Amino acid sequence: MSTIGISESEFQSLRDLIRERFGIFYDDTKQFLLQSRLQTRLLKCRVADFGAYYRYLTTSADREAEWAELASVLSNNETYFFRERAQLEVLAGEVLDEALKSGGGRLRVWSSACSTGEEPYTIAMMLTETHRISPANVTLHATDLSPRALEKATTAFYRELSFRATPVEMVQRYFRPFEGGFFINDEIKRMVAFSRINLLDARAVANMGIHDAIFCRNVLIYFDKPTQKRVVEAFAQALRPGGYLFLGHAESIMRITDLYEPVVTPKAIYYRRK
Ligand SMILES: C[S@@+](CC[C@H](N)C(=O)[O-])C[C@H]1O[C@@H](n2cnc3c(N)ncnc32)[C@H](O)[C@@H]1O
Repeated sequence: MSTIGISESEFQSLRDLIRERFGIFYDDTKQFLLQSRLQTRLLKCRVADFGAYYRYLTTSADREAEWAELASVLSNNETYFFRERAQLEVLAGEVLDEALKSGGGRLRVWSSACSTGEEPYTIAMMLTETHRISPANVTLHATDLSPRALEKATTAFYRELSFRATPVEMVQRYFRPFEGGFFINDEIKRMVAFSRINLLDARAVANMGIHDAIFCRNVLIYFDKPTQKRVVEAFAQALRPGGYLFLGHAESIMRITDLYEPVVTPKAIYYRRK
């Protein structure tokens, strides 16, 4: 199969279109990455070149279905259970304490770029481990842009790579082996409600309701600064005053918005909605 090349101007137009729709930003060094990621889409859509693919995405009757496919093709779904565990311990510790004291015994958490589900399922396991809150009193929303990642999350079947940071006893307690991998148990699975949300859709974000904590880890790095600001400011509509925002280790919103103040502990850094 010969490669279809992307010209400079086709690259600029397509990456602007993608940034506008999903926030994911391909800088000038990523021209060939985008070219290679889109090869199979050009074939599937039966278009001859990237100019025609741009027109397909903007004018074809099937464009929404193609955008859904693109969401799966363009996203990096790297994740694993118990990733950046110190932040999850803050949730199962301080944040849970506060919710039990002042939140009427309920805890509402949103894993907003949950990928294939390892993050929200880890949250469900860690809350269960505390024996301090019943699953009936936990609201655990998990959303992502990628339909393919969400499909895997709802199937809840995982292989070795997902367990690279998982304590053995947690595997024994919460998973059932099956043909070279593991299914998560039904009790944990039932605690998580998955749906598809584009974080750039401010109305959809506001419609998620109010949460005590939002996790948005390892996704802002794919956005430019104005988009990061737009997303974290929209989260303020979905957090109670004093609620918490958890970002990935490589992500910071210190110079991006003043709606949050950082909480710096020896274990973790996270943000409190003012
Ligand atoms: C690297 S994964 C992070 C998964 C998990 N939060 C973690 O830290 O392990 C990034 C996820 O962000 C999602 N994503 C990218 N752009 C998005 C958008 N505009 N709205 C919602 N999710 C998005 C991708 O589909 C991908 O699953």
